[in-house]
Amino acid sequence: MLNLKDYGIEMWPSDKIADFRRTLLSWYDQEKRDLPWRRTKNPYFIWVSEIMLQQTQVQTVIPYYERFLKLFPTVGELAVADEEPLLKAWEGLGYYSRVRNMQKAAQQIMEDYDGKFPSDYEDIAKLKGIGPYTAGAIASIAFNLPQPAVDGNVMRVMARLFEVDYDIGDPKNRKIFQAIMEALIDPSRPGDFNQALMDLGTDIESAKNPKPDQSPIRFFCAAYFHGTYDKYPIKEPKKKPRPIEIQALIVTNDVGQYLIEKNNQGRLLGGFWSFPIMETNLVSQQLDLFDNRDDEVMEQVSKKAAFEADYDLEVKWSQTQFPLVKHTFSHQKWTISIAEGQLLSKGESQGRQLAWVSLEEMSDYPMATPQKKMLETYMKEKALL
Ligand code: ADE
Repeated sequence: MLNLKDYGIEMWPSDKIADFRRTLLSWYDQEKRDLPWRRTKNPYFIWVSEIMLQQTQVQTVIPYYERFLKLFPTVGELAVADEEPLLKAWEGLGYYSRVRNMQKAAQQIMEDYDGKFPSDYEDIAKLKGIGPYTAGAIASIAFNLPQPAVDGNVMRVMARLFEVDYDIGDPKNRKIFQAIMEALIDPSRPGDFNQALMDLGTDIESAKNPKPDQSPIRFFCAAYFHGTYDKYPIKEPKKKPRPIEIQALIVTNDVGQYLIEKNNQGRLLGGFWSFPIMETNLVSQQLDLFDNRDDEVMEQVSKKAAFEADYDLEVKWSQTQFPLVKHTFSHQKWTISIAEGQLLSKGESQGRQLAWVSLEEMSDYPMATPQKKMLETYMKEKALL
């Protein structure tokens, strides 16, 4: 058991803790947001909501949550779902490993627990894609277990309450906030206690625009008393995402169909369809055809030649200039140049999953945000929108 004193934190006496619980929960009873996953105790529904909410805001999640549960209303149906409708239901939420892991966890629940969601914290935490935060949220909300759900919001509120001098962005410090929460959490209403802190952390105690004077727990808050709200939480700046240049090629055939490809390799966007894309620096490595000629025109020519060789196609490239498309993932920042052309002839491309589809048909394929942005840019420029 971690000793909070070793981290310069003095835990309150038990009467102050009791007072804190009452204050926070009576505020929650009056002010809580009415959210669809707060009208259920179904652990599967709560799990879906918590996974969606990990990287996405509440207002965005609501329609996804409702649609997802209509399509996959039980653990059993999620376990046997096909990949395409599953990705389609998650389309636009990003971080797609979340939904893939959910399906694996659903299969685990079918096999190991006969389809019944486990009610023991350790069992929940063993499921694929469920870390300590999600396990705590499900255990407390669905099963009333006194488990903290420590996310960024909770760490921020705790850092201000106790003036915690440890970086909330560093995973190894999470245990400090976990220990504070274990001391504070109300064992009679753990789910509400956790969700009260989530509500507080997203609004009154937000990171960018906090309103300390409105916080129901301000009279417990060391940073409020000492005027150190600006200092807490301590958060070191994150590494910037790596810039990557991508070339996208939009090719149409003589019946107006477009070439799209399924990404069967990358962990990033695996399973999604897009216009063929290639990382620009990889293209230059691959091609010694025009070696050491790196002026822009030659680079354009070489990319297109590499594409034609790779896909065994012959293409008449157009001169149209498209605006650059930009998309940022957590670790990568893509800048995509689009080139467009007409198919002249094609051979048999090996080892790729390709399809020729009309614009209407394209929406049946799972498409991630970069592809949607490319398509939109293309359609705008061609006045198809
Ligand atoms: N963010 C993560 N989980 C949440 C929940 N249960 N309610 C509101 N916001 C949340």
